[in-house]
Amino acid sequence: MKVVFLGATQGMGRALARLMAERGDELFLLGRRLDVLAGQAADLRIRGASTEVGVAACDLEQPDGFAAALDAAAATLGRFDAVVVTAGLFGTQEALEQDAAFRRRVLTVDFTNTVEFCEQARVKLLEMGGGVLCVFSSVAGDRARRPVVLYGAAKAGLSHYLDGLDVRYRSHGLRTVLVKPGFVRTGMTEGLKEPPFAVDPPAAAAAALRAIDRGSPVAYVPSIWRVIMLAVKCLPRWVRRRADF
Ligand SMILES: NC(=O)c1ccc[n+]([C@@H]2O[C@H](COP(=O)([O-])OP(=O)(O)OC[C@H]3O[C@@H](n4cnc5c(N)ncnc54)[C@H](OP(=O)(O)O)[C@@H]3O)[C@@H](O)[C@H]2O)c1
Repeated sequence: MKVVFLGATQGMGRALARLMAERGDELFLLGRRLDVLAGQAADLRIRGASTEVGVAACDLEQPDGFAAALDAAAATLGRFDAVVVTAGLFGTQEALEQDAAFRRRVLTVDFTNTVEFCEQARVKLLEMGGGVLCVFSSVAGDRARRPVVLYGAAKAGLSHYLDGLDVRYRSHGLRTVLVKPGFVRTGMTEGLKEPPFAVDPPAAAAAALRAIDRGSPVAYVPSIWRVIMLAVKCLPRWVRRRADF
């Protein structure tokens, strides 16, 4: 596959990009830190990426740069098969409630600007005849819960958008893959209390790659979270008003 990747510098994105490189996929990396991207590109080439791994600047806080970033990927890869977005920000409910500037950043990056990036990627993929748009949302977007009201709201909007793309453009050749991780041990979750069923990035990445290869519209990572969230969705409101998970 030829894959454009936003978020391959850390965590699940880095693990997923490594798996793709190891099987010989061709990759083009987008991100906000060009020096880190360059190091990552060299590492992926050594791991097996089938050609030189190109990089271009793309900051989810700078939507004016999205078009140039996707154009740079197309200029290097030609027609690409997939766009993967693992980039995102997290803040605890307390931090987001207390800091208005941080709250605006997280909501803008995780919803408004990710959607804008995906809109531009969608247009490019459809112009090329179709392909996969894989985006990492979260189980936090499935149902409002006390510890993740604001982050969950952004991810709920993102999940809704991907779901909408699937029903609108599947017949045109766009295959959306919405990945919903549970708790994965990355920099994003460092210092947080670990719930049951936590996994490391390689396990989450392997599950996401299976979903991409199958073209699954929704993938819970790990899959046990599908059952957990089904149960959470059934909880009555009075329980959710008290529950701290
Ligand atoms: N970890 C979990 O338990 C968990 C659970 C549910 C959902 N998720 C979601 O899964 C995705 C990946 O999470 P992760 O834990 O692997 O995260 P991570 O290790 O913190 O990595 C986040 C990635 O996002 C990039 N990024 C952040 N802000 C950016 C910006 N403004 N522009 C471009 N790139 C930016 C980072 O790039 P830099 O290297 O430049 O900082 C990094 O590559 C996220 O969308 C997250 O919300 C994670």
